[in-house]
Amino acid sequence: MNYDRVAGLALERGFYFPSGGSYPDAQAGFWEYGPNGVGLKNRFLELWRRALLRRASMIEIDGSQVMPPSVFEASGHLSSFSDPILECSGCAATYRADKLLGDGPDSGMHEGAEPEAVDAMVAERGAKCPGCGGVFKPSRRFNMMFGLGIGPAAEQAYLRPETCQSIFVDFPRIYKTMRGRLPLGIAQVGKSFRNEIAPRQGLLRLREFYQAEIEVFCNPGRLGDIAGFGEVADTVIRIHEDGRTAETTCAEAVDSGAIANRTIAYYVALLSEFYARTGIDMEQTRFRRLSDTEKAFYATTALDFEAKTSTGWLELVACNYRSDYDLKGHAAKSGEKFEVMDGDEKVLPHVFEMSMGIDRSLYTILEHSLREDAENDRTVLSLVPHMAPVQVGVLSLVKKDGLAEKANEIHAQLREDFAAFLDHSGAIGRRYRRLDEIGAPLAVTVDHQTLEDGTVTLRRRDSMAQERVAVKDLPGMLADELRA
Ligand code: GLY
Repeated sequence: MNYDRVAGLALERGFYFPSGGSYPDAQAGFWEYGPNGVGLKNRFLELWRRALLRRASMIEIDGSQVMPPSVFEASGHLSSFSDPILECSGCAATYRADKLLGDGPDSGMHEGAEPEAVDAMVAERGAKCPGCGGVFKPSRRFNMMFGLGIGPAAEQAYLRPETCQSIFVDFPRIYKTMRGRLPLGIAQVGKSFRNEIAPRQGLLRLREFYQAEIEVFCNPGRLGDIAGFGEVADTVIRIHEDGRTAETTCAEAVDSGAIANRTIAYYVALLSEFYARTGIDMEQTRFRRLSDTEKAFYATTALDFEAKTSTGWLELVACNYRSDYDLKGHAAKSGEKFEVMDGDEKVLPHVFEMSMGIDRSLYTILEHSLREDAENDRTVLSLVPHMAPVQVGVLSLVKKDGLAEKANEIHAQLREDFAAFLDHSGAIGRRYRRLDEIGAPLAVTVDHQTLEDGTVTLRRRDSMAQERVAVKDLPGMLADELRA
């Protein structure tokens, strides 16, 4: 399915839409989730908590979105969190130089490119402004932090560009209060903010966006030793390197050196198993090893989990081995101690991170699930049942003869335990089509027979098959069908 079709459905069916309504000063890069988008996001996060956090005994915090300059001096964001920018001397349009000049990871242009390299490529290619054909000013690097003035004195602070800095700053306190032991995964979900030069394509590059980040604190001397590796040794992952994608088990990936150690392989496997359960087509995914020029400034090794979409390969999760970069930086800046005891060894933990872009993941789920069913003249969002924002439609065949009242009663019985949507009006076929488009896997229809024998029609979204089911059996059946 292509991008425009997904974006159209998202608008029509209340998944997501631009922020600011029709006001002319609404800025690019800010989008909002409608009720179905929130429902999908909540399902995604329920699964994330279950398949990653609970499975690997992680803990979760919820930090502040506004943080003081010291945090970002220590983290390096104030000095290094920038993209190369090109500005047209004619129309003043701005572009991300690596996006404008680079045509893929091997193009020699990347987000860390210095102005001299960008200017040399502009000259070599004779690149001009795509908008007006004007020449570019000398390029520069543009810092993406959003600054804020706090209180009447407008004290400087910043919106966080990644959720994880509060995890690092809070680490000694959390480790102590939660009686932590290495390796320890600390997770956080929330908004982050980046003053992107050229936000584009809806949820794919935002200035305000959702991240779900996991920071695994580990003993660098014990990366080969992780309980649970046996569970995932045979999990198959797809690794992309030097232009080739190869399927390999996690055990083979460690043996061949494609993944540096068992700790990283364990978490990468869990991540891969999590995504398989979201309904993303795993054949269209890969873990791409980043070259030195592509890695974030804090990462020593990096793998991007990417999914193929109609817009190209999309990075959904950055898996970064951040070593002791962050804890060392915060220890030096704050004067606090960040070492902890691992058995009787005192260590400054290293960090392996899985930084997930939620918005892009939701887009990919929508694109991979949407299909046209020409034979039946309908559009179907074939979400896996446990990801559906609406789980069951409750419909009355007609409003009269007491059928609407009976449907209301069944809806009232189901609505606390299931996301049930009540609909009385319009042709029944049209109501089914609307449920198909929002991915509701099941629909229950109340008809005259319901009043006689206490059964309803249960319709399945994908097959359109219908069967009669006793109303009293509905809660148990739905629970079985919707289990993740
Ligand atoms: N914490 C890594 C990132 O935001 O990309």
